[in-house]
Parts: sequence; structure tokens; C-alpha cells
Amino acid sequence: MTQKYVKAVISDTPDEAALPVLEGALGPSAVDIQTLYARYGLLAYDPGFRSTASCKSAITFVDGDNGVLLYRGYPIEELAEHSDFVEVAYLLMNGELPTPEQRKTFDLLIGQSNLLHEQIMNFFRGFRRDAHPMAVMVGVVGALSAFYHDVMDIRNPEDRMLAAVRLIAKMPMIAAASYTYSTGRPQRYPNNRLDYSSNVLQMMFGQPNDDYPVDPVVARALDRILILHADHEQNASTSTVRLAASSGANPFACISAGIASLWGPAHGGANEAVLKMLMEIGSVDNIPKAIARAKDKNDSFRLMGFGHRIYKNFDPRSRVIQKSTHEVLSHLGIHDPLLEIAMRLEEIALKDDYFVERKLYPNVDFYSGILLRAMGFPMNMFTAIFALARTAGWVSHWLELQQESHGIDRPRQLYVGKAKRKLPTKK
Ligand code: SDX
Repeated sequence: MTQKYVKAVISDTPDEAALPVLEGALGPSAVDIQTLYARYGLLAYDPGFRSTASCKSAITFVDGDNGVLLYRGYPIEELAEHSDFVEVAYLLMNGELPTPEQRKTFDLLIGQSNLLHEQIMNFFRGFRRDAHPMAVMVGVVGALSAFYHDVMDIRNPEDRMLAAVRLIAKMPMIAAASYTYSTGRPQRYPNNRLDYSSNVLQMMFGQPNDDYPVDPVVARALDRILILHADHEQNASTSTVRLAASSGANPFACISAGIASLWGPAHGGANEAVLKMLMEIGSVDNIPKAIARAKDKNDSFRLMGFGHRIYKNFDPRSRVIQKSTHEVLSHLGIHDPLLEIAMRLEEIALKDDYFVERKLYPNVDFYSGILLRAMGFPMNMFTAIFALARTAGWVSHWLELQQESHGIDRPRQLYVGKAKRKLPTKK
């Protein structure tokens, strides 16, 4: 069969053969191919969606070539410096920063919804003590459907907003309990006199029979990590949430699907994988060998925390986290040899042609593990903290998707299997 080609010629003449080009507010334009199959019997083939805009969204803009990340138009660096996670969650969900009055109401709503139904606490006991916190979170968040699904109508905007706030409010206790359960410690409850990130810390590390003085520097660093991880346009886990939501599934089930997708080492699981990699490298002397392995096509070893599907320049989040890592380690008086290995690894890789040619830079996960470890989080909680933060983005995309009505997402395929054949008659 001869190879056929379709040539895309961008023109101003809207003749009947033309496919419209859609202009975004920022970033690349898109060819509207919705009628491609109906008109030409052709599908567009794009495994991994490298060239596919799956939806229109106004929440987050990423310019990978210039290392730009905007939440509702505000640069991530400014939000990380001057905002807080709850304000950013409100911004992502509603499109604008809250007025003082709106912020007060939002804080109140979160404070009223941050406890878990006592029966939900039984779910944790059903897991093995050594269950990975992400396995627990997938299960418990999905189980929220059994407690709240019937009391909400996703066609009702108020119900939708309430479900979104409930998820943001309850995730800290779910994340903390996913860890404390493994230690056998009884679970502390949220304290509404504390801010969001301080509550995460006291629920994670505090004992119910004792005070837990939260270190403000550590709480601020955690809040910054949550801001940096809150959203990132149509990444794998957010696309998973949107695909699940397109069938009309309830928000708790959709967020549970997002948690499952985030867990993978190529995505949110990379922060845990970075630390394991740095521990495996063990010393600065072993860096050349690690670099060689990362470049060796016959070796599955990759430099975890390096590279990105979109950023072909610095991930702006990685720079903010690197700075925060230095601040927290010096504040806590910690000398972590892994930080030295990470910095040296970054320095060497960024001078190596293999990484330079492929535009592989440190991404958000490269330093976050070192920072979270310094703050006392066990390695298996790193991705759980990522999921806690990304809940703000997931619920915002879930809310945004309810406004559009393109119906259920249903990708097609290029079928490469067997042609129709007869079932052999049984002897
Ligand atoms: C996150 O999408 C998002 O926005 C995600 C995220 C978010 O906020 O939601 O930003 C969070 O998931 C960050 C990414 C965390 N993952 C890792 O750090 C895992 C390590 N990185 C790689 O697995 C990889 O870079 C990906 C998955 C992140 C991106 O892969 P791409 O864009 O599909 O790159 P590719 O597989 O097409 O690789 C292009 C080339 C290949 O070499 P050649 O075949 O051209 O010779 O680069 C090489 C790859 O082998 N390469 C790497 C590498 N990443 C890519 N080589 C060594 N080490 C790496 N990390």
C-alpha cells in the first residue's frame, strides 16, 4: 500500500475543504479537527497527545520553551512568594483572587468540612500497615463517593462547589491518616486555629496527647510546595480526571482516578524515585556512572526528576523549590549529602550534550524530595503530598469541565489487529 500524505496549508481562504484554526489567548493555535472523520473518514493519530489540545481551558498556561507557568494569568513565582495555598486553590477554582470577605467564607467552609466521617476512619484499618499511602488515598478518596455522592447533584452548581471544597478540605486528614495509620499512632484531627499547611504538619507528625508546635518556616515551605504542585494544565492525572468526569462520574471517583494516575514514576511518583536514585548514586564520585547509564539506550535507568513533556527549558517550579530547599535545610541545620549530589548532578547534566540536545532540565520533582525529607516526610509520602496539592487543580478542571458540553470523551484508534476471520469449527 503506498504511503499517503495530507499537507496542512494554513491560509485565509475558508474554502469548504479548510479546517478552521482556533486562536488561544496565549500559546499555540489549534487546528479544529472535530469534523475530520465526518468529512474525510480520517482520524488524527497522536499517541501520547504530544500535538493534541484535548479541551479549551482558562485555568493554567504553560509555555515550555520559555519556562513560564501562569495560574489564571498570575506567574507561579509571584504566587509562590506572595500567596498561600488556600488563596491559590480559590483562584484556580473561581478564576479570580478572593476578596477578604470571600477568603473568610472560604476558610470557614474548609474548617467546617475538614473532618472525616468517623466510619471513613474504618477504611484505613482495612489496609495492611505497610500499604503505600497512595494506595490508601486512592481507596479512601474513592470511598468518599459512598458518603457524599447521594447528597449531591452534579448538575447543581452549588453542590458542585461544595463537593470541590469538601475534597480540598478533607485531603489533609486523608493524606495524614494514610501515613499515621502505618505507624500505629492514633490520628490527630484538624485544628481550625491553624492554617492549612500547619494542619497537615500537626496531623502528620503530632501525637493526640501532646501539643505539636508547628515550625513556621517549615509550614511556609510546605505551603509553597502545595502552591507549586497545585495545577499544571492537561498533565496525565488531570487529563484522567477530565476523562472520568466526562462520563458524569461523581467528583470523588474522578479525583480517585487522578490519584491513581499521579502515582506513576513518570508523573507524580518521580519525587520518590528521585530520592531513591540519589540514594543509589550515593556519592558525587558515582555521578559520571549515573549519567552514562541515563544516556545508555540499553539501560532503562533514567535521570528521575529530569526532562518534561512540555518544559524544554527550566521548570520554573524547580528553581523555587531549590531555593526553598536551601532555606529550610539551613534553618533546620541539616546537611543532607543528597542535596550536594543533586546539585552536582544538575551541574554536570546541564553541561552534557545528551541532556542539552534533548533539552532535559530538572523538573518540579528534582528537589522536592530532598525538601520534603528535610521536613520529616517519609519517602512514600512525597507523592501523597503532591496529590494533596494537585487536588486543587483537579477539582478546578472538574468544575470547568461541567461548564462545557462536548459530551463523553471517546478517543478512537488506529486498528492494527486481525481482519475478520471465521471461528474454526470445534472437532
Ligand atoms: C511531572 O505533564 C506534567 O505537567 C507533569 C508534571 C505536573 O506538574 O503534572 O509537571 C509533573 O510529572 C514531572 C515529570 C516527572 N517525571 C520524571 O522526572 C521522570 C523522568 N523523566 C522522564 O521519564 C521524561 O522526561 C518524561 C516522562 C518526564 C517526559 O518524557 P518525554 O517528553 O516523553 O520525553 P521522551 O520520552 O520523548 O524522551 C525524549 C528523549 C529520549 O531520548 P532519544 O530517544 O531522543 O534518544 O529524551 C530522553 C529519552 O530517552 N529522556 C531522558 C529522560 N527524559 C527523556 N533520558 C534520560 N533521563 C531522563 N529523565
